[in-house]
Amino acid sequence: MEENITRIGVSLPKNLLEEFDSIIKTRGYSSRSEAIRDAIRNYIMEYKWLEREEGEIVGVINVVYDHHVKGVSDTIISLQHDFLDIITTTLHIHLNKDYCLEMILVRGDMSRVKKLVDKITTLKGVTNVKLITALRD
Ligand code: NI
Repeated sequence: MEENITRIGVSLPKNLLEEFDSIIKTRGYSSRSEAIRDAIRNYIMEYKWLEREEGEIVGVINVVYDHHVKGVSDTIISLQHDFLDIITTTLHIHLNKDYCLEMILVRGDMSRVKKLVDKITTLKGVTNVKLITALRD
């Protein structure tokens, strides 16, 4: 048991909560609080991982975007040309009528990889960016 439990109130869009509830039901959580605690722990872990600024990493940046948004595809391609020193391969998967998944395999210094992730994350039309690292020294 964790000590010093604090209760918080959170405002969420209805559909976000419905989606969350549906996932935690499938995964067998006994309570919403338990699932939220797990989600927050994961978020903190991921954030701390990403906050490490230096060191050689190998990983993949998964980018989901709506290709109908003007300029987003071109900008993602241009960015990859700017960062070709760390990009080894790119896979493009057309997810459905609207969305694309770009998997950018990277190898290089974390600070450089983070710079690319930050630039992609702020693009209009990009709905999700996730960096998964596989190796580091
Ligand atoms: Ni596509």
